[in-house]
Amino acid sequence: MRIARLLALSLAVTATVLACASTALAADGITRGTIYKDGPDNRFLLGGNWLFRLDTAGVGQVQRFQRQTTTDGWTPVTVPNAWNAGDNSIASMTGTTAWYRKDFQLPDARSRMDWLVRFESVNYRSKVWLNGKPIGHNTGAYLPWSLRLPRSFLKRHGVNRLVVRVDNRRRRSDFPPSGLTGSGDPAGGWWNYGGLLREVYLERVDRIDITSVVVRPDLPCATCDASVLARVTVRNYGDDSARVRVTGSFGGKRLPLGATKAIGSKDFGTFDTRIKIRNPRLWSPASPALYDVRFSVRAGDRKVLGYSLHSGIRSIRVVGGKLTLNGRPLSLRGVGIHEDDPTTGFAINSARRAQIIAQAKELGADVIRSHYPLHPEMFELADREGLIVWSEIPVYAVKTQFLKQLAVRKLAARELEDNIVANQNHPSIMLWSIGNELSSRPGPVQQDYIQRAARQARALDPSRPIALAVAGYPSAGCRPQYAALDVIGLNDYFGWYPGPNGQIADRDALPDFLDQMRACYPNKAIFVSEFGAEANRDGPVEEKGTYQFQQDFVNYHLGIYATRPWLSGAIYWALQEFRVRPNWDGGNPHPNSPIHEKGLLRFTDGSKKPAWFDVQRDFAAVNQLGT
Ligand code: GCU
Repeated sequence: MRIARLLALSLAVTATVLACASTALAADGITRGTIYKDGPDNRFLLGGNWLFRLDTAGVGQVQRFQRQTTTDGWTPVTVPNAWNAGDNSIASMTGTTAWYRKDFQLPDARSRMDWLVRFESVNYRSKVWLNGKPIGHNTGAYLPWSLRLPRSFLKRHGVNRLVVRVDNRRRRSDFPPSGLTGSGDPAGGWWNYGGLLREVYLERVDRIDITSVVVRPDLPCATCDASVLARVTVRNYGDDSARVRVTGSFGGKRLPLGATKAIGSKDFGTFDTRIKIRNPRLWSPASPALYDVRFSVRAGDRKVLGYSLHSGIRSIRVVGGKLTLNGRPLSLRGVGIHEDDPTTGFAINSARRAQIIAQAKELGADVIRSHYPLHPEMFELADREGLIVWSEIPVYAVKTQFLKQLAVRKLAARELEDNIVANQNHPSIMLWSIGNELSSRPGPVQQDYIQRAARQARALDPSRPIALAVAGYPSAGCRPQYAALDVIGLNDYFGWYPGPNGQIADRDALPDFLDQMRACYPNKAIFVSEFGAEANRDGPVEEKGTYQFQQDFVNYHLGIYATRPWLSGAIYWALQEFRVRPNWDGGNPHPNSPIHEKGLLRFTDGSKKPAWFDVQRDFAAVNQLGT
């Protein structure tokens, strides 16, 4: 009787404690899990209300922010957030500094847990404080980074305050760089949205954390059995050595990752294996077969972490100067994309991501390209829907004098590594691109950058080709500096921009140029990584900026590509209009700044321009997958 009462009482107490805890969590906007599917199961979305303010008095304010018991001077926002979405001014493009503040209680107060805060993308420089103490900083957007929340600053019970200072004033050596246009306006290839552009998570570490996961299928030939390399690296965050075991499965088949290992405090341990998959279901845009992969990490006799992802078995290789997928030569057609939205800027949500992918599919694209690593959910959608991705780091039009600097090279190398480490398990990613439109007449500086980047990328991931997108100018000639690349992307604006000395003003120069490039690089895969013309009105076909001109432009260019079967693909720039920069004209005599209007879909309502249907018809007629 007494026992039953005690039990009832303790159950009631537990229920109340749990209810209180979950009410506090709900109030803080903390929910278990990530909005994407792949990854570890120890993340909690730090959603709900955040506070935001522009910076008025510099870093000195941080202690005042810490003491503040009100929200005076702050505006409630949700994260992701681009604070200048919709502000098309020069000041908005130039950038400023601002603050975010978030009060939260830990979702789990147990003392053995360590905590990290993970930022999926912050543009551009960030500094972070926990309870008034600085805990770290980061440079560069579009890639995730984490900071440990030091135990000594962290309140296990009670409210923690996270303060983030974000500075999106760009420098000429940043990715992408700042600069000035001929008329003195801020330059740049897309809007400089400031803020916490993607989600923020708390990550709970029960002594052992996974620091990297590689699941790399190898398919020697299309009808061969596949072998899959699985490698999980863990770290012991605890103060004592731990006995760690990792188990896993690939498509339900056990991964023999080896015996228990003793891992010392703060040390790393690697568990790996290679298994054979007989008669694999192959991944391709035509049938994007995915395999469920799961890992489980145990410390002693307790499970401390689970991890899942979706792998795909396919081979992507350059053979005889052509990119091949599962042994078949590709003639891909696709579109460039930006993660932009009229209302939220780059802080887009899942619905918008799904829409972008659906629009690309509706157009008949089998490949997409962006100038920066996409949101992880975009890669998952591409995996699932069957879209091949040209994955690029934002080493975008960086001038040689900056590319020469050690700090710039180090950041480029870090971004390349982070992109590979974070995103390499997605079957949709076909290559690693190391930049866009560096000097079109490369010298030793660019050559060195290319050589080192290619070596680094191949060491991290020998399974994917290395690419660079270059401005297509005949005067550049054959460049030995590109020797280390597997894939060259040519940005083709023949008949749109004049180019240096008017060399691309005449579109009829395109066929010879393409043939010249093939002759220069017979063993590399060549893509048209961009082609496009602005369009915002009806008018004569000869007049730049009309829908009729755009239609004629796409039909001409696609027609030329069709007669160059050695091309591995052609990517229209871009699927949809986006904000680019103040006073952008993009070569259009009647521009609508700041909107980049080469898109096939209008920015504000996503409606289709006439050229959409020409492109769609052409894409459908191309045997993109060589089947
Ligand atoms: C460049 C660049 C794009 C840009 C385009 C244009 O080559 O890579 O980001 O939007 O050309 O001028 O429209």
